[in-house]
Amino acid sequence: MKIIGINLSNNPESINLKLLNKVCDNIKAEVVDFSLIDFPMFKAGEKAPKNLIDLCEKIKSADKIIFSSPEYNGSYSGFGKNVIDWISTQGKHDGVKKITPLSGKNVFMMSASPGVLGGVRCLPLLQILLLELGCVINGSFATTGGYNDKFDYTNVFKLTQDFKNR
Ligand SMILES: Cc1cc2nc3c(=O)[nH]c(=O)nc-3n(C[C@H](O)[C@H](O)[C@H](O)COP(=O)(O)O)c2cc1C
Repeated sequence: MKIIGINLSNNPESINLKLLNKVCDNIKAEVVDFSLIDFPMFKAGEKAPKNLIDLCEKIKSADKIIFSSPEYNGSYSGFGKNVIDWISTQGKHDGVKKITPLSGKNVFMMSASPGVLGGVRCLPLLQILLLELGCVINGSFATTGGYNDKFDYTNVFKLTQDFKNR
């Protein structure tokens, strides 16, 4: 069983990265940290960068994926949309539907935010995007009451352990 965690923030101080690191450490999953990867803005017609090819190979080799997404203005990040747009270019159409590196991947989504709503508004929008790329969504988790250094990981550890065992 291979699980990878992908953070849809490129901020090295990202609280979603902190959340993802804790969760992935707990279930022994690998983390993709975009603050360490130089990822260009998508431009139609441009050759896919090596970083994207490597990322897609990693995604294809995984059984399950955890996405952690920041919430900006009630939605997922522009950075995250850019990454997902790039991933979609590495797919093909089988005449009926789009097949992408994310097709058929079991996905768990989560979001950390300092706000009281805990990033809960971005996850339904992210779900629509991930379904478009063929993901199978297995549930969602949003932090509520504010994410900070004293955050209690009990529930998110339980949810992600369940996701791993499913
Ligand atoms: C432009 C901007 C818009 C934001 N909009 C929201 C929002 O709609 N909801 C929310 O909970 N937090 C919002 N925030 C606060 C982010 O949740 C916070 O900056 C968080 O640390 C971002 O995640 P990251 O640290 O993983 O990058 C916003 C922050 C910025 C800079």
